[in-house]
Amino acid sequence: MNSDQRAAFITRRQFVTSSAAVLAASGFARDARANEYLVERPQQSGRGPFRVIIDTDPGVDDALALLLAMRSPELKIEAITPVAGNVPLELTLPNALRMVEIAGRADIPVAVGAKAPLMRRLVTAAYAHGENGLGGAVFPEPKIHPVNQPAAELIRQIVRKFPGEVTLLTIGPLTNIATALNLDPELAGMVRAIVMMGGSLSGGNITPAAEFNIYVDPEAARIVFQSGIPITMVGLDVTRKTSLTEEHQRQLQAGQNPVSQAAATIARNALQHNRERGFVVGPNMHDSLAVAGFIDPSLLKLKEYYIDVETTGELTAGETLGYSPDAGDLRRRPGMEKDAAATNMPIRGSAPTLASTRTSPVVRDKFVPNASVAVNVDSARFFELLIGRLSGKQ
Ligand code: BDR
Ligand code: CA
Repeated sequence: MNSDQRAAFITRRQFVTSSAAVLAASGFARDARANEYLVERPQQSGRGPFRVIIDTDPGVDDALALLLAMRSPELKIEAITPVAGNVPLELTLPNALRMVEIAGRADIPVAVGAKAPLMRRLVTAAYAHGENGLGGAVFPEPKIHPVNQPAAELIRQIVRKFPGEVTLLTIGPLTNIATALNLDPELAGMVRAIVMMGGSLSGGNITPAAEFNIYVDPEAARIVFQSGIPITMVGLDVTRKTSLTEEHQRQLQAGQNPVSQAAATIARNALQHNRERGFVVGPNMHDSLAVAGFIDPSLLKLKEYYIDVETTGELTAGETLGYSPDAGDLRRRPGMEKDAAATNMPIRGSAPTLASTRTSPVVRDKFVPNASVAVNVDSARFFELLIGRLSGKQ
């Protein structure tokens, strides 16, 4: 996508965000009592079904997120598109196929995604997910096979087949999604919404600045955030509050179905892996929270931000920056010149260097939100949903 096309999407975004459409599109409603950029308490589970594509890099928490999704009647899963991330594609692909098989959902097409980020070498997270991506939990080789189309092409075809209907649930690096958007400049305008596990406004987990999914492919993430697609960002700010415990594992173990048993095995291995590595917290159910937040938006409290991604920092690439006229030292008293303050706030980047052709640090002259960011979570209800669905109690 060239810079003119990106500018066009920002313009569409400005239009979309000036109405309630972005919130409606993502399934989250505005709370009239809250301040203008805070969004909370919409509907419960039981809604839908909504067409979704799940883009994923299994991954312990991806595996449980996939199982959760496949046991949730609110979702009509049109495809699963593995990407390289937590472990190489050679492992994320069979891991995704294994989860599909375990859930008895061979009807869902699985398409081979990107082997590597757009412009960088792949960095994996075997330190957190084990060498096989499932915390060391071993399952048989999958018998089912991926479809013929590459992931980006399948995403494009499905979104074009159901314009305005498909939500992308992204729980890995955003390489496949950015590739699909690059392939087809009209595609962004046809995607209903993105609900993403990624990013953080409160520090990273692979560097002090960056969350893993954005760190792995910051250029792809930037394309996605600038696409104009309504985004719900479920980042570390909330997913850090979803540590799996031994008690959760026991509840899964007690579930009398293959999904619960597989989830229990993955959970046991992941807990053991964490103990052996000396991690104080976790394993966090980052990705399951993003899926659960789509199934039941009332689990999350959201706040609107303009999110941009650092791509050039030597130490900070992959950091997500959240701009809001409602947060930080320049915020106004509630009610005071709200509209003017909101629209006049420029989006400011680094001071121009002597070599730069840019004369001003202002990268957008007005504040326009491009994402609803999860700022709080009801962790207890999240685990009720996750464990309840996996174990068959809900
Ligand atoms: C994210 O990175 C991966 O390690 C997890 O699967 C999750 O998607 C958390 O930062
Ligand atoms: Ca993931």
